[in-house]
Amino acid sequence: TILVLDFGSQYSHLITRRLRELNVYSEMLPCTQKLSELSWKPKGVILSGGPYSVYEKGAPHVDPAVFDLNVPLLGICYGLQEIAWHHGKNVLAGEKREYGHAYLDIQRHNSGAGHIDELFKGLEDNLEVWMSHGDKLSHLPDSFVTIATTSNAPFAGIAHTEKPYYGIQFHPEVTHTPRGTQLLKNFAVNVCRAEQNWTMSKFVDQEITRIRKLVGEKGQVIGAVSGGVDSTVAAKLMQEAIGDRFHAVLVDNGVLRLNEAQIVKETLTKHLGINLTVVDASERFLGLLKGVKDDPERKRKIIGNTFIEVFQEEAKKIADAAAGSSKAGEIEWLLQGTLYPDVIESISFKGPSATIKTHHNVGGLLENMHLKLIEPLRELFKDEVRELGTQLGIPEDLVWRHPFPGPGIAIRILGEVTPDQVRIAREADNIFIEEIKAAGLYRDISQAFAALLPVKAVGVMGDKRVHDQVIALRAVQTTDFMTADWYPFDGQFLKRVSRRIVNEVKGVCRVVYDITSKPPGTIEME
Ligand code: XMP
Repeated sequence: TILVLDFGSQYSHLITRRLRELNVYSEMLPCTQKLSELSWKPKGVILSGGPYSVYEKGAPHVDPAVFDLNVPLLGICYGLQEIAWHHGKNVLAGEKREYGHAYLDIQRHNSGAGHIDELFKGLEDNLEVWMSHGDKLSHLPDSFVTIATTSNAPFAGIAHTEKPYYGIQFHPEVTHTPRGTQLLKNFAVNVCRAEQNWTMSKFVDQEITRIRKLVGEKGQVIGAVSGGVDSTVAAKLMQEAIGDRFHAVLVDNGVLRLNEAQIVKETLTKHLGINLTVVDASERFLGLLKGVKDDPERKRKIIGNTFIEVFQEEAKKIADAAAGSSKAGEIEWLLQGTLYPDVIESISFKGPSATIKTHHNVGGLLENMHLKLIEPLRELFKDEVRELGTQLGIPEDLVWRHPFPGPGIAIRILGEVTPDQVRIAREADNIFIEEIKAAGLYRDISQAFAALLPVKAVGVMGDKRVHDQVIALRAVQTTDFMTADWYPFDGQFLKRVSRRIVNEVKGVCRVVYDITSKPPGTIEME
């Protein structure tokens, strides 16, 4: 394992990401991590960039034990300053910030079997790199040599003469440094001798063993499933590990997609063999949503709170039944499909005084129900979860599903949520998604749906004047869901979808396409 110590750079998690792409297992921890508290010994340590200056009062510093670990070190940007600071403190506050492309001149030392030239081995003498920093080195720290320069930074890369310590001013982890992955490979594989054996099948075996040990011979686990990728993959992994001692619960809140509860039930129980209970609470949810018109946040609160109530009631029933059967223990665990980006969000270094926030809104559930949390996906990125899902035999359709918000179609009905409005939104959405799939565009689009506008427009259908509602189609492309662009469908496609919706969905006489990017729009309309 390569340990990444995070100083709060916006790119830190990408270091872990790139290493995993090289099949090298890597974990990120905040720079304040005490090494004596680690249960494993890293093969190498990378110190990330960060927004501070090492001279600043209260600037973060790593546990000095890092320098006694006797493993290779790579400092990136602030990490370089940190290594230099530790070795002689020759860091100059940058006069101007440097941001953007730069060209690196590599200096080779013909160190032979020595480590000095290893970092840039096999790379061109002139490398395009991405810079983003304030401070830079003014002198070489004691016992270091220069291994790379740019016109602006005389010490853009340095190496210790005796120990395998390196510092680089640029960011190898971003795609704007085209050969960055090779550089990280040189460090992790050649210098640290980390094994390239991080694969999904290995992960599955390890995780199943870990879950079995954690839960014990009789332990029981409960978890909510939604029909989305993450919860399904997590559920399938639990089923493989402990079979029917995992209890999946699907709460039908009345605002799921068309026939969703039925489809999820079919896939999870018949195809995946998961022990699933479907709770039809749609009337309860719709009853509470009645009359809520102009306040999207209220819709979210009602659905969120009611979900917790229904889930707890169901969990109690399952727990009582489990306690009554002789072969089972108590339910002690709650499954969550937390992914690594959420974990990173909660552990990444936010500054010397920032407290590390706990993630997720399951706190209440855990306390009320006296449950412990089990999160088998917490080390994985989304694409790794998809790979894992495929490995576990989950159907392709489900593995590649677009995300769907917890409050469901309720936040896609702009206005009061009534059974008839739900019907219209669902039917229109279903047609839109069917057509997207038929056109082979589903995977190219990150998220798509139909929303129902709370206005009526005039139309003419079959020689008759009609006064009906308007459907707004939304489809976006995005990598992180923080920013997004609307999808450029061709006119023929939109024509086909519009014709089908107006013809097939009673109550709709017009279809519009939302051409707002995010920002300023959000992906959902409420
Ligand atoms: P926005 O609308 O904020 O959406 O641009 C970004 C992503 O988050 C999803 N989303 C939600 N998911 N509960 C959820 O579970 C919510 O209240 C919620 N609001 C938005 C949205 O579908 C998109 O993928």
